[in-house]
Amino acid sequence: MKILAIANQKGGVGKTTTSTNLAASLFVVNKKVLLVDLDPQGNATMGCGVDKNQLGVSVYELLTGQATVTETIVKKCEGGFDLLPANGDLTAAEVELLSLADKELKLRFALEPVRHQYDYIIIDCPPSLNMLTVNALALATGVLIPMQCEYYALEGLSALLDTIADITAVLNPELQLEGILRTMYDPRNSLTNDVTAQLREYFGDKLYDTVIPRNVRLAEAPSFGQPALIYDPKSRGALAYLALAGEIQRKEKEQRELVAQDSEGVTNQSVTGSVLDCDQLGCEPTTAESAGKQMGPPDLEILSTEEVRSADEVSE
Ligand SMILES: Nc1ncnc2c1ncn2[C@@H]1O[C@H](COP(=O)(O)OP(=O)(O)O)[C@@H](O)[C@H]1O
Ligand SMILES: [Mg+2]
Repeated sequence: MKILAIANQKGGVGKTTTSTNLAASLFVVNKKVLLVDLDPQGNATMGCGVDKNQLGVSVYELLTGQATVTETIVKKCEGGFDLLPANGDLTAAEVELLSLADKELKLRFALEPVRHQYDYIIIDCPPSLNMLTVNALALATGVLIPMQCEYYALEGLSALLDTIADITAVLNPELQLEGILRTMYDPRNSLTNDVTAQLREYFGDKLYDTVIPRNVRLAEAPSFGQPALIYDPKSRGALAYLALAGEIQRKEKEQRELVAQDSEGVTNQSVTGSVLDCDQLGCEPTTAESAGKQMGPPDLEILSTEEVRSADEVSE
């Protein structure tokens, strides 16, 4: 099973769109899927047809120990999969968590009773490297980073990769970089090719071949409380997310086969499964405009709230 954190501390890069539509796409290929809304904005919740203002219990109660996961799960939301819904209350959880023991592991502990019932758990992260995101990364087996191919696209990425590396070292050795997804992709924009070339160079086959085009159906679907695959299954956006689900499953199968070969004594160096070293990112400028600008992240000590917060400020 896979637990994917959909993370990027930038807002508006397509995290929620990716979370809801990837969940819907994996569900239609008969996978058991749980979507976790970990953003106080509750956009994934609304986008799955669940009214965030009418929730009895939500991820807030779950994280603060006031409700069990079984009580919190909404079974079969629009899109068919299960949902752990969120709303503005979650902002309080972020603060309340800070004074608790094992604050980074609250989500992990809370999901323990159900995690093995699912093939995929998808976590829609908030747009910052805060304690909620740390909770997602402490639980996840992989991080999927959606990004737009635009000016400063790579800025902030090294801070995220550093956080992933820290969490892998300290809290969750299972965590890997799952992949980089190009969203709102517009091949007519000349920058798209430049950014793609840089991403390919740094991330190699961690860059998904599938791209998500800019597609108005993807933007419209949430206002109808539906993933695009329900709202307009033939739209280019919906089909792109189906293709992404296919690519993720294909890579998973390849990785399983490699592991099986390795255990038969065949050495294979290509997939070690660890996150990319941040140095590989090189901190090179994306554009002539950003030339000379230092992209290096601060040293991020994940267990220290102040430093997590200051990293947020740097990245925003
Ligand atoms: N591929 C796309 N084509 C068109 N609009 C998109 C696409 N992906 C996202 N959007 C729109 O862009 C906005 C930001 O996307 P969202 O998924 O909410 O980003 P995030 O969760 O990272 O803040 C939303 O209004 C969404 O509907
Ligand atoms: Mg979002």
